[in-house]
Amino acid sequence: MSAVSPSRTGARVERQPLSRYTTLGVGGPAEVWFAGDHAQLAEAMEAPYRILGGGSNLVISDQGVPERVIRLVGPLAERDLDPDPLLSTDDEIVTGWVGGGVPLPGLVRTLQKSGLSNLEGTVGIPAQVGGAVWMNAGTRYGEMFDGLHTIEIVTPQGTRQVSPDELQWGYRNSGIPRGHVVSRVRLKLRRSTPQAVLEKMDAADQARKGQPKMKTPGCAFKNPGGVSAGKLIDEAGLKGTRIGDAMIAPEHANFIVNLGGATAADVHALLDVIRARVGIPMELEYELWPEQL
Ligand code: FAD
Ligand code: EPU
Repeated sequence: MSAVSPSRTGARVERQPLSRYTTLGVGGPAEVWFAGDHAQLAEAMEAPYRILGGGSNLVISDQGVPERVIRLVGPLAERDLDPDPLLSTDDEIVTGWVGGGVPLPGLVRTLQKSGLSNLEGTVGIPAQVGGAVWMNAGTRYGEMFDGLHTIEIVTPQGTRQVSPDELQWGYRNSGIPRGHVVSRVRLKLRRSTPQAVLEKMDAADQARKGQPKMKTPGCAFKNPGGVSAGKLIDEAGLKGTRIGDAMIAPEHANFIVNLGGATAADVHALLDVIRARVGIPMELEYELWPEQL
């Protein structure tokens, strides 16, 4: 595929298969805009766009998408974890800016080594900070909104900084509208010790021991009313059900895995089987690009 870059403001633009950016390993081509600063991000948002993070909650069509796909790179994928002296106290620190494109797993490990608590419950989530904030990713041991002080949100209309109190956030939901880009955040962390943070992290890690290790976009459905969607799908007898190269994982029924050559159509078909067989309505946790094939 041919390169198109660079743009007016220097953003790198390339037509690429999106499969390389998704944890499912599925996704056709799109024009990818690599935005490293606010000017490049603003330019990328001048035409219809989608924002791509760690690609760990996405099922993207094999035909790709017609919109620009924006990735945050450079300074928007860097982190300043120094305490802000004006906002930090003996017990609590507020960091400098952490870019939306920063990988969450490395950040969580660094915070643990520094003895800084509040985000350890998100260990094992293969997201970028922006995507994890947008979804309020988490586990029963903690979620992204446990550790946020300020969220910077960019839209085609401009940039604003909000505190979590201004958003209607909840389980797997930040209240931030789709397409509003989380460009950077400041973290709010509690001073602890590396050992204490590690112990909490181990508990959260332990809870995912039964999850499959293959290519997957994580859990397919949100837990309806606090009941495990995986348990419901399991009770419907669907573990191991296979369409093409997509399979409901034998280890945990809320995970669909790619056995090698899965297509987005295979995954959509399995989602339909699950909906038809589990008697109660369940909200999809994945995002489908586009919504219908
Ligand atoms: P993407 O998948 O790239 O995108 C998902 C959505 O976020 C899209 O709408 C996208 O447009 C939007 N988005 C991405 N970046 C930004 C941004 N900067 N600003 C605004 N919107 C943005 N999730 C959990 O909550 N808990 C878990 O325990 C968990 N475990 C997982 C385990 C595995 C093995 C996998 C593969 C996934 C798991 N997930 C889990 C799902 C996934 O990691 C989360 O949903 C995560 O929040 C997705 O973030 P991402 O950066 O990968 O976003
Ligand atoms: N269960 C089954 N069969 C299954 C799966 C689960 O019987 O196939 C049972 C388990 O035995 C357990 C209960 O259901 O008794 C809960 O299972 P688990 O601990 O795996 O938790 P979950 O509710 O299925 C949630 C999150 C995961 C997160 C884990 C660990 C959702 C949709 N899922 O799963 O998040 O990693 O807890 O904290 O909230 C994700 O969101 O993508 C994700 C992976």
